[in-house]
Amino acid sequence: MAEQHTLEIKDLYASVETKEGRKQILKGVNLTVHSGETHAIMGPNGSGKSTLAYTLAGHPKYEVDSGEALLDGVDILKQTPDLRAKEGLFLAMQYPVEVPGVSMTNFLRTAKTEIDGKAPAIRTWAKELGEAMKRLRMDPKFASRSVNDGFSGGEKKRAEVLQLELLKPKFAIMDETDSGLDVDALRIVSEGVNRAKENTGLGILMVTHYTRILKYIKPDIVHVFADGHFVKTGGPELADYLEEHGYDEYLPEGADSESALA
Ligand SMILES: Nc1ncnc2c1ncn2[C@@H]1O[C@H](COP(=O)(O)OP(=O)(O)OP(=O)(O)O)[C@@H](O)[C@H]1O
Ligand SMILES: [Mg+2]
Repeated sequence: MAEQHTLEIKDLYASVETKEGRKQILKGVNLTVHSGETHAIMGPNGSGKSTLAYTLAGHPKYEVDSGEALLDGVDILKQTPDLRAKEGLFLAMQYPVEVPGVSMTNFLRTAKTEIDGKAPAIRTWAKELGEAMKRLRMDPKFASRSVNDGFSGGEKKRAEVLQLELLKPKFAIMDETDSGLDVDALRIVSEGVNRAKENTGLGILMVTHYTRILKYIKPDIVHVFADGHFVKTGGPELADYLEEHGYDEYLPEGADSESALA
C-alpha cells in the first residue's frame, strides 16, 4: 500500500493587495484530504478557487492572514514555495506560465533533482521522460522546446500532467486542468492523472467547472466553493445537481454572478 499522507487546511484567511486596497479573498477555508482521495472543487467564477491554489503553493501575491495548511502535521504556509514542492505539494496552474529560454527537459530534470534532493540517473530518467510523454501523446520535440512557450492551451495542460507524473507529489491541486481540452485530450490527460493516483497514492484537489472530467476522474467528494470558503460538501451526485441548478443558492444574499457589473 502507498504511504498515507494528510493535507489539512484549517480556517485559512488570505488577501491580496489591489489598487483599491487589501481585498480579503479566502474567508475561512477548511478542508482535509488524505492520500488516494479525489476532491472536486466547484464554484462560481471569482469565488477564490485559484487564490486557494496559489496560496497553498506559496504565490507571493497572496498574503496569509490567519489559519494553517498542515501537510502531515507541518504548516506549509510558513515554508518557501520550493520547500512546499519538496514536501510533496504540486500545483497544475489554470494558466501555465511560459518560460522562454528554458527547455522542458532542463526544467523537468532540474525540478526532479530539487525535489528528490539528488539528480535522477541519466538513462532511467531519459526513459521515464520519453515513456511519460508517449503516454500523454506528446511529440518528443516538445522536450527541447521552451517551457510552455507557444504551446496551445491543451498542450500546456498536457505539460502540467507530464510534470505531475514525473515529480510524483503527495498532493496535487489541479486548477481547471480540464478547461480547453478536446475530447481526446480530456481522456488522455485524465488517464495521466489516474495513473499518478494509482502509482503513488496521490491525493487530488481538482478545481473544475465541468462534470465531463468527473466521468474519467471519479471524485470521492465534491465541494462547493463560494465567496472565499467551502459552503457545501457531498458525493459525486452533487456535481450533477450543480450542473443543473447552478450556484445561486450558495451565493450571498442578493448577489449573483452579474452583481459586480450592476
Ligand atoms: N492580484 C489581484 N488583484 C485584484 N484582485 C484579485 C487578484 N487576484 C485575485 N483577485 C480577485 O479575487 C477573486 C478570486 O479570484 P480567483 O482567481 O481566485 O477566482 P476563481 O474562483 O479561481 O475563478 P474562476 O472560476 O474564474 O477561475 C476575484 O474577484 C479576483 O478578481
Ligand atoms: Mg480560477
